[in-house]
Amino acid sequence: MTITFMMDGKEVTAQDGQTLLDVARENGINIPTICFHEATTANGLCRMCVVEVEGQRVLQPSCIVKAGANMKVQTRSEKVVRARKTILEMLASTMDLSDAPDILTMMDEYGASPERFPDAERRESEVKDDNPMYVRDYSKCLLCWRCVQVCADDAQYTFAINFEGRGFETQIATFFDKPIPETTCVMCGQCVGVCPTGALKPKREYMLEQGKTPAEISVMNTGRKKRK
Ligand code: SF4
Ligand code: FES
Repeated sequence: MTITFMMDGKEVTAQDGQTLLDVARENGINIPTICFHEATTANGLCRMCVVEVEGQRVLQPSCIVKAGANMKVQTRSEKVVRARKTILEMLASTMDLSDAPDILTMMDEYGASPERFPDAERRESEVKDDNPMYVRDYSKCLLCWRCVQVCADDAQYTFAINFEGRGFETQIATFFDKPIPETTCVMCGQCVGVCPTGALKPKREYMLEQGKTPAEISVMNTGRKKRK
């Protein structure tokens, strides 16, 4: 069934089941997203994609809210822009975004100033380097859940990682925090591929950043000493 509604003052159409984000994209309207990824089930966690829907008291996450007949949607009202700016400021004041270029671009676009939250508690974590394929730096993790979803029933059905802890202590972890080689992980790399912040990073890239040469990395990978 095709429905009609208003988005940013323009009449748009949607098929039954389409989200507001789907419709916006089809109509060339840019709504920023962070946790949303085409390959994973949308979960509405980050709230960066919020829009204003007439008659709704709170802003709605467009990646999960379905389009409805006769809706009136504003994708960039003052309230929406203010909310997105605050989300970016909170993220930047609690985690390391240095490997998240898309989010840094959003911060510029929205004029986000993390200094607004000087006392925010930062997510700190040691880099976990326990396998030959990738490293995990959870100080860069925004808990978007993409890695958990691709590891589980969105793609790989391996279930090697999940959420652990509560509130600010929540983090992504293996079961019983075991090293990756002791889990069901098959090193498919899908989690690394969907991570938006560099919290999961190919080992080779990490080693190069640490100043290792390609030759040194190759020796480490093969476990062999270079012949003289
Ligand atoms: S590790 Fe990356 S993909 Fe996984 S929840 Fe954190 S930010 Fe998202
Ligand atoms: S992109 Fe919609 S809630 Fe994160």
